[in-house]
Amino acid sequence: MKILILGATGLLGYELKNTFLAKGYDVLTPSHDSLDITDSNKLLEYFECEGGKFQWCINCVGYTKVDLAEKKYDDAKSINVTAVEQLAALCAKYKIRMLHFSTDFVFDGKKSSLYTEEDGTNPINVYGKTKLLGEEKVLESSSKHIIARTSFLYGKNGPSFFKTLFEKFHHQDEFEAVEDIRSCPTYAPDLASRIMLIIEKDIPGGIYHVSGEECLSRYDAAIRMKNIYIREFGDINFHIIPVLESKWNAPAQRPQNSSLSNKKLLGVGVSGSMSFDVCITEYMKKLRSMVKT
Ligand SMILES: NC(=O)c1ccc[n+]([C@@H]2O[C@H](COP(=O)([O-])OP(=O)(O)OC[C@H]3O[C@@H](n4cnc5c(N)ncnc54)[C@H](OP(=O)(O)O)[C@@H]3O)[C@@H](O)[C@H]2O)c1
Repeated sequence: MKILILGATGLLGYELKNTFLAKGYDVLTPSHDSLDITDSNKLLEYFECEGGKFQWCINCVGYTKVDLAEKKYDDAKSINVTAVEQLAALCAKYKIRMLHFSTDFVFDGKKSSLYTEEDGTNPINVYGKTKLLGEEKVLESSSKHIIARTSFLYGKNGPSFFKTLFEKFHHQDEFEAVEDIRSCPTYAPDLASRIMLIIEKDIPGGIYHVSGEECLSRYDAAIRMKNIYIREFGDINFHIIPVLESKWNAPAQRPQNSSLSNKKLLGVGVSGSMSFDVCITEYMKKLRSMVKT
């Protein structure tokens, strides 16, 4: 089976590309420069040339700058909505199954328990609004297309909260972490393995939540990471200070609780995520060999 992965230089796309390559899959990974998905003629040409050669298209391209999106609506819309609409239509036309990533930020965060796929959406920032519109375009194109909503990603490639924290362990003695916002940290390599299962099992189209299993605030996650660091690598004198989200005055509002239930995915035979402790331990071991300490 041949798979097109768009956005393979990003945080998630990088892990997906490596996961599929390691399993012996044939993958196509055009770069942003060679295939800008907002260039409708280029996208059309690409499918006219290559459309018959792959069976799945995984779209990891996204306008992901949550705060900047507040004043760059047109840029966010062009990548998260307009290009996605064309991509979904082309996949449907060429009978290619599409898996498109969306976000926990389609919810307003007012629910106190886990969000399911049946829960009503109500995004409270521009990024979430454009991602929701993108979801709608994908689902309108084909009932076989899949929306995979994920959250709070961390991986080897690109910036992440946990990579920053890891670096601070070595260069500073304190760190402020938000305590009043909760979501499910999701380890990109673990997510990539579960996406591979989705594809191998050829699950029905629709929306699925695919995230880490534990719902944590940034503060709780930072404390857990610090304790595991001490257990694995030795003691550090480092203080994590709880702060409220409002302290940052960020341009974009974040949902207070955007934790995702993965029950629907378990129901179609795709296993749950590894535990946060296992993921963060593995991640820190990788970071130790990469980051200047
Ligand atoms: N990160 C998270 O915490 C998170 C949480 C929930 C959902 N998601 C969703 O998961 C998906 C992947 O997120 P990510 O964090 O991996 O994103 P990312 O690191 O920002 O990567 C985005 C990728 O898209 C490429 N790209 C951007 N504009 C493009 C264009 N016009 N044409 C072609 N390629 C383009 C980028 O290439 P260049 O770098 O070369 O521009 C990069 O490879 C997105 O849909 C995002 O909304 C992410």
